[in-house]
Amino acid sequence: MSDNQSSTVSDRVFHNYPGAAYILPSDEQEGERLRLQHRVWKTAFEGRILLPPFRGQASYVVLDSGTGTEIASQLAPGAILHGIDIEKRLFPPSHPSNMSFSVASITSLPDEWSDKFDFVHQRLLVLGLKNKEWPLAVEQIFRVLSPGGWVQFGEFGDWRIGPVTEKHRRMYKALLDSRGLNLDIYADLPEILQKANFTNITVEKRAIPVGSWAGKEGVGSRNNFMSVFRSMKAFVLQSGGLGFVETEEDFDHFIDAVEKEWDETEGAEVNAFIIYAQRPAQ
Ligand SMILES: C[S@@+](CC[C@H](N)C(=O)[O-])C[C@H]1O[C@@H](n2cnc3c(N)ncnc32)[C@H](O)[C@@H]1O
Repeated sequence: MSDNQSSTVSDRVFHNYPGAAYILPSDEQEGERLRLQHRVWKTAFEGRILLPPFRGQASYVVLDSGTGTEIASQLAPGAILHGIDIEKRLFPPSHPSNMSFSVASITSLPDEWSDKFDFVHQRLLVLGLKNKEWPLAVEQIFRVLSPGGWVQFGEFGDWRIGPVTEKHRRMYKALLDSRGLNLDIYADLPEILQKANFTNITVEKRAIPVGSWAGKEGVGSRNNFMSVFRSMKAFVLQSGGLGFVETEEDFDHFIDAVEKEWDETEGAEVNAFIIYAQRPAQ
C-alpha cells in the first residue's frame, strides 16, 4: 500500500448538515487532500483557475460554493469574496476583511442574495449534490448572479484504465446511485445550464496522468483519488458491500489493487472538466 494509508471505518469526521447528501469527510486529513487536489487541478489547467471573463472591473463580488481551497489569490485586491459550505470545519481560521464565510447549501440561498454576485465558483460537488438537486442549485446560482454574471463549475469525469479500475468504477457508481448522486454530472451540466437559460456555455477538458508511471505528478494525483476512494469505505460497508466486497479488509485490498493498476498502466488518466456559462445581460 502507498503512503496514503487506509483508515478504519470509524476514525473520520463527517458533516452533520441536515439533509445534505455529501459523502466525503470534513476533517483535517480531508483538508490536506483538498490542498493536494488543488495543486493537481491547477497543474492540469496550466495554472488557470478561473476561466470566464468577469475580472474586467476593479471591484466585483464572488460566491464560492463548497468553499475549500483558495480562489482568493486569483481575484483583484478590491474583490469581495463570500464562501459558503455545509460544514464550517474547513473554513480558513483567518482571512482578510474582504472575505467572509457562512454555513449554507447551494440548493437554498438567501432571498436577499438575488442579483448580488458577478461570479459564482463551484468545484467538485459531484459527491455533494443529488442528481435531482443539480437543476435546483443551477437555478439558485442563476438567481444570485447579476445579469451578465458568470458561473464556473469544475468536475472530474470519466476514466478507463484497466479491468480492476472498471470493476471499482462499477462499485463507485453503484454507491453513488444508491445515494441519489450522479457520477456523470460533468457530462450533464451543459444541458442543465442550457435549460436554466444560461448562455455562452463553454467546456474545457484536460487529461490528468495518474500513477507512478507518470513520476511525481502521477503519484500526487493518484494519491488524491485513492484518498477519495478509501474515504468511502464506511458507506460501501454500510450498504452491505454492494456486491463487490464483504469486509473492511476486502475493501482495502480492492483499492490497493486499483492503485497498483494505475501505477502499472502507462497512459492511465482521469479527465477533468471546467464548465462555465453566463447569465444573459438582459
Ligand atoms: C470535494 S470538496 C471541494 C472543495 C473546494 N471547492 C475545492 O475544490 O477544493 C466539496 C465541498 O463542498 C461542500 N458541500 C457539500 N455539499 C454542499 C452543498 N449542498 N452546498 C454547499 N457546499 C457543499 C463540502 O462540505 C466540501 O467542503
